[in-house]
Parts: sequence; C-alpha cells; structure tokens
Amino acid sequence: MSEAKRLAAEKAIEFVDNGMVVGVGTGSTVAYFIDALARIQDRIAGAVSSSEQSTARLKQHGIEVLDLNHTGNLSLYVDGADECDPGKCLIKGGGAALTREKIIAEASEKFVCIVDPSKQVPVLGRFPLPVEVIPMARSLVAREILARTGGQPVWRDGTVTDNGNLILDVHHLSITDPVAVERDLNQIPGVVTVGLFARRRADVVIVGGEPPQVL
Ligand code: 5RP
Repeated sequence: MSEAKRLAAEKAIEFVDNGMVVGVGTGSTVAYFIDALARIQDRIAGAVSSSEQSTARLKQHGIEVLDLNHTGNLSLYVDGADECDPGKCLIKGGGAALTREKIIAEASEKFVCIVDPSKQVPVLGRFPLPVEVIPMARSLVAREILARTGGQPVWRDGTVTDNGNLILDVHHLSITDPVAVERDLNQIPGVVTVGLFARRRADVVIVGGEPPQVL
C-alpha cells in the first residue's frame, strides 16, 4: 500500500498554489506529501504542522513551520485518514494526532484527504474510533462511551498525545450517522477530541493508484 500512499500524496501537490501556507497532517501517507512538498518549497510560504512528528520531518527538509495563531486561516490542509466513507466523513487519530489535525482542518478552506484504497469503507467503524481524553477522565469517558454507543473502548496504553492526554480506541462500532455520533461523544466531559471528522469532513479525497482517483 505504500506505493498507493505515495501516489495519492504526489497528486495532492497539484492543490498547492504559489505563496501558500500549507496545513500538514500526520502519518505515513503525509510523510510522502512532506517529501513532495520539499521539492517545491521555494514556492510556498511555509507549513502549519499537526504533530511533533510532522514538524520534525518538515524541518529536516528546511520547510519553515509556522504558528496557526500567526498565520490565521489557511487555504489548504492535506492529511491522511484511517477510514473514509462515501460522504467523505473520516475516522482519524491512528497516529494520535487527531486534536491538532481537527484544529487545522477547521481553520482551512479546503481539506484534501490522501488515502490508499484500503481506507475506503461503506460505513465507518471497522477501524477502532480514537478519542483523546483528559487523563483523569479516562474511566468515566470509557463507561459513558460504552453506555452511549455499545462500542468497546480500549485504552491505548503507553500512548501520550502531543497535548499530554490519553487515547481510547472504541471497537465494534458501525457509524451510520457520523455527524450525530461526533456531536454526541463531544458532549462527554473529559473528551478532548473525537476522531470522527464528519461535521468538518474532507472536501476532496485522493485515492492513490495508477492513476490516482480524485473524489
Ligand atoms: C494520524 C492520522 C493519520 O492520518 C491516519 O492514522 C492515517 O495514517 P497513515 O497515513 O499512516 O495510514 O489520523 O492521527
């Protein structure tokens, strides 16, 4: 699948205009995008990064990493996903970067999601839904998610997010109304971010292949 990821990432470069500050997601597909961005870095103004991991790779390439508080809203955000449904709703957070990813997606005019074909699903939920939680609320949130959804929350033991929080991965969901589930789980005290990107979903999905599909 890594070739499909690379092909999707290369195609996304076509969405980068001269002088742009580009929002950059996190993950192995995005790593290919950062490498491609490095080749055209002379014609961009910099990047806003969604994780320490992506920041390190951007800086290795000499791409300037800017603060979202200083750039204001962005024209373009490029990120991967763990699952993508036909309505361009996503599950994200496999790399635990969901909170900063959701912030940049919200701040961006266009969200281009780059995936390999294995990420396309008819209904979200086969991939366990990541939820970032404040550490003291871990058990409370887990019980509440179980009660509200019937899904099984599993603590991603050993993972601490860039924001100092924990991740619960919710198994055995079948998310037929992603906007409603995102809204509902967001209400639980202690939830920082739900890894459903439905209210602010992708605008464009690029599925890697020969040729890449732009949806
Ligand atoms: C990180 C993410 C990633 O976009 C998602 O996990 C996909 O990763 P990859 O491109 O490595 O398959 O949401 O939090």
